[in-house]
Amino acid sequence: MHHFRYAGSDLQCESVDLAAVARLYGTPTYVYSASTIEDHYKRLQTSLAGLDLQICYAMKANSNLALLKLFSNLGAGFDLVSGGEIRRVIAAGGNVKTSVFAGVGKTEAEIKLALENGIFSFHVESEPELARINHVAGTMGVKAPIAIRINPDVDAKTHAKITTGKSDNKFGVPLRFAAAAYEAASKLKNIELKGVQMHIGSQLTSVGPFVEAVKKVAPFVAELKASYGISYFSIGGGMGIVYKDSLASGQPGWWDALPPEQRPLTPEVYGEALTPLLQPLGLKIVLEHGRFMVGNAGVLLSKVEHLKRGANKNFLIVDAAMNDLMRPAMYDSYHEIVPLHRDTSRRALTVDVVGPICETGDCFAKDRQLQEVGEGELIAFMSAGAYGYTMASRYNTRALAAEVLVKGSSFELINARETFEHMIANEKVPAFLR
Ligand code: LLP
Repeated sequence: MHHFRYAGSDLQCESVDLAAVARLYGTPTYVYSASTIEDHYKRLQTSLAGLDLQICYAMKANSNLALLKLFSNLGAGFDLVSGGEIRRVIAAGGNVKTSVFAGVGKTEAEIKLALENGIFSFHVESEPELARINHVAGTMGVKAPIAIRINPDVDAKTHAKITTGKSDNKFGVPLRFAAAAYEAASKLKNIELKGVQMHIGSQLTSVGPFVEAVKKVAPFVAELKASYGISYFSIGGGMGIVYKDSLASGQPGWWDALPPEQRPLTPEVYGEALTPLLQPLGLKIVLEHGRFMVGNAGVLLSKVEHLKRGANKNFLIVDAAMNDLMRPAMYDSYHEIVPLHRDTSRRALTVDVVGPICETGDCFAKDRQLQEVGEGELIAFMSAGAYGYTMASRYNTRALAAEVLVKGSSFELINARETFEHMIANEKVPAFLR
């Protein structure tokens, strides 16, 4: 499932020694494997080969221009959520015409930008939003293609902060109001009813909730096709990845060696379960996976600053922090942590792995067993390719990390480490304080 493994004692990404990358570009640095992303994309495509498929990569997971170009070369469109993301797609030479625009609060300027660039469809979350899109399209003298996002009220059985398809969530229109919403939309002059959309949540680790949601919504989709001639059904993204055994899961045969009931979700299982439910609809099927594409294709490299012995605990203080990789602080999420140089003769230590930020929450792992590593040695946070760099901040005036893309034995910097000058470039002391 990915191309990170030890060659002898040293961790490599494809054929590149990760310590060499850290030496060249410093730390913290994100490193992505192009071959892993390509494999994931193709596996998803193959697993649903029986369908008329349009993959719109959810670029919020990782929107570096190099990755967008890679997806674009593979033929992907994008699931985008802001004017900034539209502009990123254009800057990367991607195709807005095969991209979908999601989000509960699209501004008039963003709607206009999307229309000017020929967006494939807007994923509409409410009637007021529909009225706004109709209005903007009217001022431009065009028709806006739309799908309404249905909230199927299905429990995705994932973390509460990334569940989106329950009736308590802010997303979508409840299934029981959806027919009325389509009818209202059909009366708007500047709206073209093009499809229907849903997305029930992120990091789903079993196929059950996807099946339940599709089964629940499919009859309504068939009705919409009959009455309005809609042409596509987007079933969103959300396929989960392996976090706990991330490194092992990259080894050939790892999946097959597990007892079937313990096997994490794969695109093959997803495709096999969903194809028979979707095929009879005779519609284009849009997929919006983000994490599955890039999550296990990226690691965050970091350097050990100190091993600090506390009263009851050992703290491994590293140079990455919650501002670089927010997920553990925000969702208590688990990222496997491994040394770049493996030395089996060393003892294992139980440590809390923490960053230098002045917050107790700046903690990547509690009571984790790790090979003892000392000052200056390098570690990697696995499965950090999705929602890593895109959620980073400058908290504590820490510059945004560097990003590197690997392909085979080549690697290149795809985002330079931010400079202090760049961080403060837009700030200004007002005249009344001078
Ligand atoms: N489509 C829509 C409408 C979405 O809102 C999302 C993600 C996706 C597709 C892609 O979901 P994926 O395939 O990546 O699961 N920051 C969180 C995840 C937030 C997901 C937001 N929406 C995390 O780090 O776990």
